[in-house]
Amino acid sequence: MAMSACCRPLGPAHQRAQHLFHIHSPRLPPERPPLLLLGAPKPSGSSSSLVYLAGAAAAGVGGYYFYSQNALSATPKVFTPTKEDFQKVYNEIAGRLEEKDDYDDGSYGPVLVRLAWHASGTYDKETKTGGSNGATMRFAPEGDHGANAGLKHARDFLEPVKAKFPWITYSDLWTLAGVCAIQEMQGPTIPWRPGRADKEAAACTPDGRLPDAAQGTKHLRDIFYRMGFNDQEIVALAGAHALGRCHTDRSGFEGPWTFSPTVLTNDYYTLLLDEKWHIRKWDGPKQYQDKTKGLMMLPADYALIEDKAMKPWVQKYAKDNDLFFKDFSKVIVKLFELGVPFKESSETMTFKPTNA
Ligand code: HEM
Repeated sequence: MAMSACCRPLGPAHQRAQHLFHIHSPRLPPERPPLLLLGAPKPSGSSSSLVYLAGAAAAGVGGYYFYSQNALSATPKVFTPTKEDFQKVYNEIAGRLEEKDDYDDGSYGPVLVRLAWHASGTYDKETKTGGSNGATMRFAPEGDHGANAGLKHARDFLEPVKAKFPWITYSDLWTLAGVCAIQEMQGPTIPWRPGRADKEAAACTPDGRLPDAAQGTKHLRDIFYRMGFNDQEIVALAGAHALGRCHTDRSGFEGPWTFSPTVLTNDYYTLLLDEKWHIRKWDGPKQYQDKTKGLMMLPADYALIEDKAMKPWVQKYAKDNDLFFKDFSKVIVKLFELGVPFKESSETMTFKPTNA
């Protein structure tokens, strides 16, 4: 039977999960829909097979259900990962970042940060929909939204990590990868909590919830106020553009914002204020260029220094990297946790960077 575009899963591990679901699906209570199912190897000398379930059932409880199944019964067991288990996932991502240095400016770090941000930035505080709880970008409607062009590189980069630690949800994995990338690119410590659950394609958010780089601060306020942020927080978040670059085959824009796109610093703010920016003469969309022609700013970036309420924050962060790091860490935690129904018992963790 043909699959509708809306239900087409995007990742290979997800395809494997669906396949296994049809074969091994244990009978579950209705309040525990099996959203992700991965098969584990059959233990030798046993007639049962182990099936990991990480999905809505795992949300907020700090444990991930898996089932020891035989022909007639399915006995749920709970695997409760500890901070050490999550540190292992962190280390695996950090190891892959170090190893796979043949991408863009030498790191997948920036695109991992963008994946975590775009997974979280769909949140709508009125309807309480979207956000990192769901990882619905795995499905075609959301994965195909123009704003998400290129993020398949980040999702594919994380597939081997998901295969090695099948108990973690994609939603937790993507935000943890964002945390790892920021810390490994010499950014501040980002506290993180597990407890996100993967959702089905029906939970995909409508197109248009992420910011349009061609627009100014009225649009930025519409988008970020909808998530629950204020002006200071918008400016602090934009500092992530110290990292990475624009790609003509993704957004249409071209180039990096800073000279060190794989190290997090407050250079985005200092460059925004100190450089002479002019509109680039080219066939592409309107963007700004510095005199070396090596750097760029989006209209949405430049708008921050044309706005009376936002510019003072650009100036503060340009003067004080420590203040930027402190505020950036706080606001990224808020972003990655938008709409996540954590249980009170959910433990906040900090991970050791591998280069510390
Ligand atoms: C303020 C509104 C924002 C706009 C209009 C915007 C727009 C864009 C655009 C057009 C790109 C280039 C995509 C490409 O061609 O590959 C980009 C890249 C990026 N954005 Fe944003 N962004 C915004 C906010 C944020 C936030 C809040 C974060 C994270 C906290 C972020 C992190 C990044 C990163 C790390 C990249 C580089 C990705 C790469 O190198 O592949 N952005 N952004």
